[in-house]
Amino acid sequence: MAQKPTFVEDIWYFAAIGTELKPGGMKHVTIAGHPLVVGRKQDGNVFALRDICPHRAAPLSAGKIHGDTVECPYHGWRFGLGDGQCKEIPSMCADQTSPADKIKVRAYPVREDGNLIWVYIAQDKRYAGTPKIDPPQFPMAAKKPVFIERLRLNCHVDHAVIGLMDPAHVSFLHRQWWWRTGGSMHEKSKKFEPRTRGWAMASHAPSSNSLGYKLLGGKPVTEIAFRLPGIRTEDIRVGKKSLLSFTAVTPIDENNTEITQVFFTDFAIVKVLKPLIKKGASIFLNQDGDIIKLQAECLKHDPGLLLIDDADQQAKWYYLLKKEWAKSRKEGRDFVNPVKAKTLRWRS
Ligand code: FES
Ligand SMILES: [Fe+2]
Repeated sequence: MAQKPTFVEDIWYFAAIGTELKPGGMKHVTIAGHPLVVGRKQDGNVFALRDICPHRAAPLSAGKIHGDTVECPYHGWRFGLGDGQCKEIPSMCADQTSPADKIKVRAYPVREDGNLIWVYIAQDKRYAGTPKIDPPQFPMAAKKPVFIERLRLNCHVDHAVIGLMDPAHVSFLHRQWWWRTGGSMHEKSKKFEPRTRGWAMASHAPSSNSLGYKLLGGKPVTEIAFRLPGIRTEDIRVGKKSLLSFTAVTPIDENNTEITQVFFTDFAIVKVLKPLIKKGASIFLNQDGDIIKLQAECLKHDPGLLLIDDADQQAKWYYLLKKEWAKSRKEGRDFVNPVKAKTLRWRS
């Protein structure tokens, strides 16, 4: 089931963690082929501009913020942080007519919600200023992140997303004594339902064979959800306390993808065990990264792929969601979620 590798557009992408951008700070990110500088003004507000100076292509992220403008490091042209308008060309003499008001760098809609920063990537820049949708909201993300793990994968975003949502690989690729052992594999039956631009595995008691959950004490309920363009969340609750494991799978370009995993929580035990949990998350992510590296060699031969029922149903839903998203944009109509409520069964 090969799919033309395209990106989801006209949607909010996760771009950065709020605590990583100090006032006056900037960061370069490439999202779905768009080179961006994401930064924070002295007043605390965030901005996102195309990270290529229209003069001679220096990255603005290597420059400096002055008030409401960013100064290019090469010849000092200044651009407004809100609208990307060129405000100043220092090499112009007083009696020369400055072309500045005709020069603009593309500005991207940006939002900060809690500690998550989102940038709206529009296919057509004429629509870039008017997103019709909001970025997803996660109240737990207002808490300080417990840790942030990142991994760059050398694959198209589709392989990273379906690898992340794939329940059948866990017992093999991630087999280790402190999480699951081969002997603990058993049949599972989980209820799935459609959610905004995605689906969720409805609240359930987590796998009894996961040692990690036992540490939280009490009776946890967990909900795992996925939404376009590539956001997976795992929400674990025990009584009033909760843990949000937030994972963003963000395409850099056709052949590179970045996975960011962040934990937000008010469980004291998670904070105490932070070094261990961070280590565990890093081991998991690297196992995924290693198999993707191996898989990338095989994918060069452009093999067909087989998606089976029910273990690969989420991969199928992902492709369906992407297809319907692109179609609804093209036809200028509302998106209709193609996911239908369903119980999926598999062994893991
Ligand atoms: S390249 Fe930016 S001012 Fe010249
Ligand atoms: Fe994995």
